Amino acid sequence: MKSSHKLLFVLCPMLVLGFIYYSSGKLHLHVWGQKPQIDSESTLIVPTKGQSTTELEVDVALTVGQIVGSVYDKQGFLLKLDGKLSAELAYKYGNLSEGVCKPGYAAAKMTAIYPKFMKPAPMFLDRNFKRLAKVSSYLPPFGFKTQETIIDIILTATKNYGLGQDVDGLICKRCIIVGNGGILANKSLGSRIDDYDIVVRLNEAPVTGFGKDVGTKTTMRITYPEGAIQKPERYEKDSLFVFSAFKPLDFKWLRQMVFREKLRGTEGFWKSVARYVPKEPTEMRILNPYFIQEAAFQFIGLPLNNGLMGKGNIPTLGTVAITMALHNCDEVAVAGFGYDMNTPHAPLHYYETVKMSAIKESWTHNISKEKEFLRKLVKANVITDLTNGI
Ligand SMILES: *[C@@H]1O[C@H](CO)[C@@H](O)[C@H](O)[C@H]1NC(C)=O
Ligand SMILES: *[C@@H]1O[C@H](CO)[C@@H](O)[C@H](O)[C@H]1NC(C)=O
Ligand SMILES: *[C@@H]1O[C@H](CO)[C@@H](O)[C@H](O)[C@H]1NC(C)=O
Repeated sequence: MKSSHKLLFVLCPMLVLGFIYYSSGKLHLHVWGQKPQIDSESTLIVPTKGQSTTELEVDVALTVGQIVGSVYDKQGFLLKLDGKLSAELAYKYGNLSEGVCKPGYAAAKMTAIYPKFMKPAPMFLDRNFKRLAKVSSYLPPFGFKTQETIIDIILTATKNYGLGQDVDGLICKRCIIVGNGGILANKSLGSRIDDYDIVVRLNEAPVTGFGKDVGTKTTMRITYPEGAIQKPERYEKDSLFVFSAFKPLDFKWLRQMVFREKLRGTEGFWKSVARYVPKEPTEMRILNPYFIQEAAFQFIGLPLNNGLMGKGNIPTLGTVAITMALHNCDEVAVAGFGYDMNTPHAPLHYYETVKMSAIKESWTHNISKEKEFLRKLVKANVITDLTNGI
């Protein structure tokens, strides 16, 4: 339970009882017990015996003020962020030379600024996916409720649920999420990107012809039906096709791709979708929907909307990928993230000439709130931004 909820639990009965006390003049505060146990994070002043309701109300106001004055923001991130290592982390990592992979670094830095962070969260769904309690009770995109049967069928065919022996066997994994931003153009970061153990690309962002700037290695490409590469010849070899579902229909599409069925029922897609994915089922994975849920509701603070997709509560795929990396990589870097609205004539994507000014007000995403979250990660050095766009 969130500490603010706990607080409400404590405060509501107190107010009610306080009112009874006030109106009856009989009930004494000590009748209803001991000082309530208060969450250590908040510094609630507990009314002592004999306080009047007016004093109680003052306390409530004070409490609210103290929550606002907490060292954590509404999302639970430390308000004062800096890139410095704590003494404990400095001891652990301080002696490693520059460029050496630091085991557990991203999670340790994340926990330092966001104590609620719980690292374990598998990258992909496997045959035991139903044990994942946090996602089993939400509909897509925040969980897999109602889709269990189709997921079972798909996972029976894919047979693989990890990154493959080579990568899974690494003691320390350095990951980079390559965004599609025009900010990547002409920076010659290709070889630096290829140096990472895991290179994550998104949707249809091409590699061929852009190697100098974006690299040539692709460990996985995360996508959804409307974002997937449509021309079969444009799929690179040796990369995993990682599927991220945003609506129930998306799972149906994936089943048709996995089993090479003729695509039927495309009315529910918001643009044309790939009709054929030239990948073996064993090269396909389903991304754990927990990363969408956690990014939306915990990290960014988008509207819960009863756990359903609604206006402005879907994180972008890039932020979903970063969230996945925080749980599964030892070090996390990004490149090609961030839109600079002050340069409307700069290209939006590195691979096409569409200008920044073409970006529309999005119904599904909340770019500005999302950027606030990513800024915290960069500021605290949880992630490294190679293109400085965040
Ligand atoms: C790092 O180096 C310092 C000084 O040489 C030493 O005291 C400390 O134990 C080392 N830390 C680790 C984790 O090896
Ligand atoms: C990158 O360089 C090419 C060739 O010099 C140029 O045509 C293009 O406009 C540049 N792109 C950006 C985003 O600066
Ligand atoms: C994004 O979040 C801000 C702050 O909560 C809100 O004012 C704005 O309307 C949201 N935008 C969208 C597109 O939902």
